[in-house]
Amino acid sequence: MNSLSKAAKMSISSLASTYGIKNVNLLRTQGFIDGKWVGDSTSTFDVTNPATDDLLLKVSNLTVDDAHKAIKSSSDAFKSFKTTTARYRADILNKMYHLLMDNVDDLAIICSLENGKPVADSAGEVKYAASFYQWFGEEAQRLTGDVIPSNIPSNRIITVKQPVGVVGILTPWNFPLAMISRKVGAAIATGCTAVVKPASETPLSALAMAYLAHEAGLPKGVFNILPVDHATTKSIGELFCEDDTIKKVSFTGSTGVGSVLMTQSAKTLKKLSFELGGNAPFIVFEDADIDKAVEGALISKLRQSGQTCVCANRLYIHESIYDEFTEKLVAKVKKCKLGNGLTEGTTHGPLVHSRAVDKVQQHVKDCLDKGATLLLGGKVRTDLGPNFHDLTVIGDVTQEMAVAHEETFGPLVPLIKFSSEEQVLEWANDTEFGLAGYFFTNNYSRIFRLGEQIECGMVGINTGAISEAAVPFGGIKHSGFGREGSKYGVNDYINIKTMVIGGL
Ligand code: SIN
Repeated sequence: MNSLSKAAKMSISSLASTYGIKNVNLLRTQGFIDGKWVGDSTSTFDVTNPATDDLLLKVSNLTVDDAHKAIKSSSDAFKSFKTTTARYRADILNKMYHLLMDNVDDLAIICSLENGKPVADSAGEVKYAASFYQWFGEEAQRLTGDVIPSNIPSNRIITVKQPVGVVGILTPWNFPLAMISRKVGAAIATGCTAVVKPASETPLSALAMAYLAHEAGLPKGVFNILPVDHATTKSIGELFCEDDTIKKVSFTGSTGVGSVLMTQSAKTLKKLSFELGGNAPFIVFEDADIDKAVEGALISKLRQSGQTCVCANRLYIHESIYDEFTEKLVAKVKKCKLGNGLTEGTTHGPLVHSRAVDKVQQHVKDCLDKGATLLLGGKVRTDLGPNFHDLTVIGDVTQEMAVAHEETFGPLVPLIKFSSEEQVLEWANDTEFGLAGYFFTNNYSRIFRLGEQIECGMVGINTGAISEAAVPFGGIKHSGFGREGSKYGVNDYINIKTMVIGGL
């Protein structure tokens, strides 16, 4: 085990005292392999605050060699972890849930520092992350098999659910805690072991979680964390896909990367579950409760400044209520406060980096060049910091503009008028993506009709907030496959073993 250098210890204590982080043990700058903190200060990468671009901490940049060690540790741990009882795993998951909840305030500060989101949103994320451990602790005890009637009188058929083995987990920066617990919770519940590569932008939350998992008594090797920089990320993804010891890869990220990982996994034929890009339509019908729809639009489109996979991307508003909806929405967005996530009163934080700001600007420009009307915002806000973009509302957007087809992943609300259900359904489904969709109506036959016809994995009806541990989370089309959370979330982590007993 490499001990921490004096300089690293000093930067940790200075970060903790600057931001009031009470549990200093949560701040980690090394990776976690086989129950030990590994990595030294000779090869590190910078973790910065997107609100200021200030350096937070230098984190050990682990190597492909370290990844091999983590896989070996996970594989060794699996031999005994797979034989543990469901009760034992449920108790550990429950302890992990409580430890996260006990450390909400500190974890929220760490998350806001590296991700930029307002601290209240980060606290919400910590609770969301914890809820997956709680949920999967409960699911662990319900992994029941079947007794299936055989057509051969002397035979009996029974099935048991067995863990797949070592799981490789690749997670994004937008939910640095919850996207890990949604996957690792299912892995632990089923008796699998995991090697997690967190996003290079946000390793601190992941490492804090590893510390708490260790405190909860999770055996060594069950939950390894590999912090690596951007340049090394590709090789780790490739290794996870090509190494036959890893029996499943779970990835949340872009459709482009998902497609590469799928190709790389072809030789090892492992299980995959991918949660990829989205292009969620958000439709408001003439019979909707407009105030509720405005509230829903704010939550769904501007949650985390537009940086979630399930954010509404394009808003379709019926022509008869377009003016009223637009006026109310603009008034609401004006009340939001853009700023540093750690500043009191901030409702919306920065984007993760300058490329994200550029993407929003491209969509704004494309809309305005093609004749749309700027109703609010529209500017890059260098006065606030390096990665800020105005919360922006644009009217008179059409289906021909880029924002109708590409995910913005930023705070741009584009409003498109429609005149009939048939037309808007065609537009909503005119995309290769199919993660989330939303619509607001008080017509009950439309709720079922459209709910069934809209092409996406999850539909919010009269709500802009769909995420919770009970929801089967996942997409169709180029938005991926597999479901996380819910009673289905364990399915990709188990193999069904059939035993046919004959000669009775
Ligand atoms: C995501 O953006 O990938 C996850 C969003 C959520 O869980 O609500």
